[in-house]
Amino acid sequence: MKVIILAGGCGTRLWPLSRDHYPKQFIKIKTEEPSLFQETFERSLLISEVDDIYVVTNEKYKFLVMGAIEELGYDYNESNIFVEPEAKNTLPAIYAGVHGASKDIDSTFVVFPSDHRILKSDEFTDIIKASENLAENHIITFGIKPDGPNTGYGYISPAEKRLNGYIVEKFHEKPDCETALSYIEKGYFWNSGIFMFNSEFFTNEVKSHAKNIYEAFDTSTDIKEAFSKIHTKVSMDYGIMEKSSRIAVVPVDIGWNDLGSFDAFYDVYKRDDNDNIVEPENIVIDSKNNYIYSETGKLVASIGVEDLIIVDNRDALLVCKKEQSQKVKQVVETLNFRN
Ligand code: GDD
Ligand code: MG
Repeated sequence: MKVIILAGGCGTRLWPLSRDHYPKQFIKIKTEEPSLFQETFERSLLISEVDDIYVVTNEKYKFLVMGAIEELGYDYNESNIFVEPEAKNTLPAIYAGVHGASKDIDSTFVVFPSDHRILKSDEFTDIIKASENLAENHIITFGIKPDGPNTGYGYISPAEKRLNGYIVEKFHEKPDCETALSYIEKGYFWNSGIFMFNSEFFTNEVKSHAKNIYEAFDTSTDIKEAFSKIHTKVSMDYGIMEKSSRIAVVPVDIGWNDLGSFDAFYDVYKRDDNDNIVEPENIVIDSKNNYIYSETGKLVASIGVEDLIIVDNRDALLVCKKEQSQKVKQVVETLNFRN
C-alpha cells in the first residue's frame, strides 16, 4: 500500500502559531510533542514502507517537511516529495500524488491529511488493511460519528452494506448548520478527510468528473506544467466525492480529532490539576482552564485568570477567550486586508 500525505494547507485559526510560512501541521503546540505532520508520518509507517510514503506540499513548505522527517530520524528520499507551484486545493494535490507515485503500476493508496490527531492509530491501521478489497472499486472515506452540527465537515449518508463498509448514497460537503443538524438526526457520518482507493479506479473517476485535471497531467511532463493548465481550485470533496456514484464509507471509532482551533487543542492535550495546559517554566497562580504557550520560551505568568488562550511568539501575542477561538481566523483576515 502507498500513502499520500497532504501537507499544503495553512490552518488560519491557529494564528499566530500557524502562519502562511509555518502552517499548523508543522507547529508544536507543546515543545515535547511531535507536530501533527510528524504524527501523520509515523502513522503512515504503520501501513507502508518509508519509500512508499509520498508527501504533496507547497514549494514553501518543502524544507519544513524534510526537517520534520529528519527530526524523527528517518532517511527520506527527497524525490518522494511532490512540490506544487501553488495551492490549487486537495484534488489537484491528491491527483499529483497518485500520478507521480503510481508510476503506471496499479496499487492501493491511502490519503492522509496532515492536520488531524488520531488516538487509536493501531486500530485504524487494522481497519485500513481490512479495507483493501472494498477499495478495489470504490473510493473509501472513513466515517466519524458526529458530536455536533459542525459546518466545516463533509457529511455522508450510508446506504446498503458492502464488504466492511457501506455504499454512500450521497456526500454533502460543508452544509449549513440547520442542514447539518438534520443530517445528524438521520444518522449521517462526518467525512474524516482520509481516503482510500485503487489508483486505476481513482484515475478513471478523475477522468469522468474532473476531466481538466486528468488532461492537465496527461499532457504534461511535470507537476509544474500540469498545474499551469489547471485554472480553478477544487477540493477532493466538491470535485469527486459529491459527484462520484462509487463512494463507500467505513465507519471508524479511532479517537479522530481535527485540530482546527485552539479549543480543539485544549480538548486533547494533557492538563494539570487546575485544568491548565502550560509549559513547566510558566508561573500560574489561582488560574484555571487556560491554555498558555510561549513559542519563544518567554516566561509567562498568569494570576487569577480563567478560560483563556494565551499564545505568544516572536511576531504576535494572542489573548482569546476560550470557546471563541474559531474567530482567530478573523484576525488573519484583518491582517491580510491590511497587507
Ligand atoms: N498539498 C496540498 N495542497 N495540501 C492541501 C491543500 C493544497 O492545495 N489544501 C489543503 N491541503 C491539506 C491540508 O493541509 C489538510 O491536511 C488537508 O489537505 C485537508 O484540507 P483542509 O483545508 O483542512 O480541508 P477542510 O478541513 O476544510 O475539509 C476537509 O476535511 C474535513 C475533515 O477534517 C474535507 O475533506 C471535509 O469533508 C472533511 O470533513
Ligand atoms: Mg482541515
